[in-house]
Amino acid sequence: MATFIVLLGPPGVGKGTQAKILAETTKLAHVSSGDLFRENLKNQTELGKLAKSYMDKGELVPDDVTISMIRDRLFRPDCEAGAILDGFPRTPAQAEALEKMLADFNGKVDYVPFITAPEEVLVERASGRWTCRSQGHIYHQKFNPPQKAGICDIDGSELYQRDDDKAETVTNRIKVYFQQTMPLVEYYRQKGVLVEIDGSQPVEQVTEELLSALKK
Ligand code: AP5
Repeated sequence: MATFIVLLGPPGVGKGTQAKILAETTKLAHVSSGDLFRENLKNQTELGKLAKSYMDKGELVPDDVTISMIRDRLFRPDCEAGAILDGFPRTPAQAEALEKMLADFNGKVDYVPFITAPEEVLVERASGRWTCRSQGHIYHQKFNPPQKAGICDIDGSELYQRDDDKAETVTNRIKVYFQQTMPLVEYYRQKGVLVEIDGSQPVEQVTEELLSALKK
C-alpha cells in the first residue's frame, strides 16, 4: 500500500528542506505545491500567471486550481508508492479533496508532521533564503550557505531570492497561514496522525526528530 506524508507548518519553517531529505531517505516522491506553481510561472503557463497574482500578495491560490494541479501530479507514475506532500493541503477543502484522491490509490494520509517555530525564526529564515533556479534546491545565507555565493552546489545553476520573501509578503503569508491552514492541525489531530516537531532546531536535529517519529 502507498504511503502519504503531509508536512504541515508555517511559511519558512523548513518544510521544503525536510521534504527533500525525507524523499531521499524514503524514496517517496516529493510533491510541493509551491514548486509546481513556480515551475508553471517559469514556463509562463496560464496557471503560472494566475498563481503569481496570488503568490505576490502572500495569498492562497484558489482551491479548485490547486486541487486539480495536485491531482494531476499524484497520478504520475513516481507517486505509485506514495509521496511527501509539502505545502498541500492548506485549507479544509483541500484536505477533504486529498482524502478523496488518495482513496483512488487505496491510500490515506498516514502521517502529518506538524513543524513549528516562533514567528521571528520564520521571518529570518524566509528573508535569508536563496533558491536554485533549475531544481529548487534550498540555501540560507547564514544557516546553510552555498560554497560559492549565488551558485547551487548541486547543479551549478543560479540562486535567486523569491519575490514572496519580501518582509511585508512574509508577514501576510504567516497571517494567512494562521487564518486558513491552522484548522488542519485539529483536523489531523482528530484522525490520530499528527506528530508535533520542533522546527526551531538545526536542520539535522529536525530530520532526526522527524525520522524517529515516522519510525514509531
Ligand atoms: P510555498 O512555496 O509552499 O511556501 P510556504 O509554505 O510559505 O513555505 P516556504 O517555501 O516559504 O518555506 P518552507 O517551510 O518550505 O521552508 P524552507 O525549507 O524553504 O508557497 C508559496 C505560495 O504558493 C503561497 O504563499 C501560495 O500563494 C501558493 N501556494 C502554495 N501551496 C498552496 C496551496 N496548497 N493552496 C493555495 N496556494 C498555495 O526553509 C526556509 C529557509 O530556512 C531556507 O533558507 C532554509 O535553508 C532555512 N532552513 C530550513 N530549515 C532550517 C533549520 N532547521 N535551521 C536553520 N535554517 C533552516
